[in-house]
Amino acid sequence: MPGMRLDKLLTHLNCGSRKEVGAMIRAGRVAVDGTVICDPAYKVDPDRAAVALDGQAQQYRAQRYFMLNKPAGVITANRDGRHSTVLELFPEQQRRGLFAVGRLDKDTEGLLIVTDDGALSHALMSPGRHVSKVYEAEVEGALAKDAAARFAAGLTLKDGTVCLPAKLEVLAETPVQAVRVVLKEGKYHQVKRMIAAVGGTVVRLRRVQIGGLPLDTALKPGEFRMLTEPELVLLRQQSPAQQKN
Ligand code: URA
Repeated sequence: MPGMRLDKLLTHLNCGSRKEVGAMIRAGRVAVDGTVICDPAYKVDPDRAAVALDGQAQQYRAQRYFMLNKPAGVITANRDGRHSTVLELFPEQQRRGLFAVGRLDKDTEGLLIVTDDGALSHALMSPGRHVSKVYEAEVEGALAKDAAARFAAGLTLKDGTVCLPAKLEVLAETPVQAVRVVLKEGKYHQVKRMIAAVGGTVVRLRRVQIGGLPLDTALKPGEFRMLTEPELVLLRQQSPAQQKN
């Protein structure tokens, strides 16, 4: 059976050393889902098992981190009466406690982090941290000649919103005009509005990187996978206050 050894789980819960918790388990002091378990090697699901020591419930939930390649047509929300949501791409039994870090428009595709770690989410989204987000867009219309310079200087949108300096790079002119945009903030419809301010219309938008973490190109739209430990380290480097041992 997959899962974590009961003695390992109890050491993670700071109940004692592996040797000490082994002794507690063998002494019949530990119950899992209401049943006393005397085998330290007994496997439990750390996210779901109700573990008690001497009758006292012990809390444990490993935090989960996923990389999702968001498809167009689903909204970044937990639940919505009318539209499909990104969380509905996850099996129902996995959804509990998960939420998306930040928001992509319904028609935007690409990298979305889905987790139950509120602290990391806050650190990544916090405006003061200026974590970079990289987008690739297909654009119609002629962009102003000084578009990149205006992005770099900090563009002012039509409604007066002032944007932080950003990077605009033309990747291809044909067969479609493709650009890469790097932002250090996340205002409402920001890429679309910035491109509009320099004469273009975004017809397709995809986020390809957050901080140092690129979207895994093996993930098809709608697919997700857990972040690897090195990827998590990359993300945490964007939010130093959240670094864990
Ligand atoms: N900018 C946009 O315009 N839309 C997104 O979904 C993300 C960034």
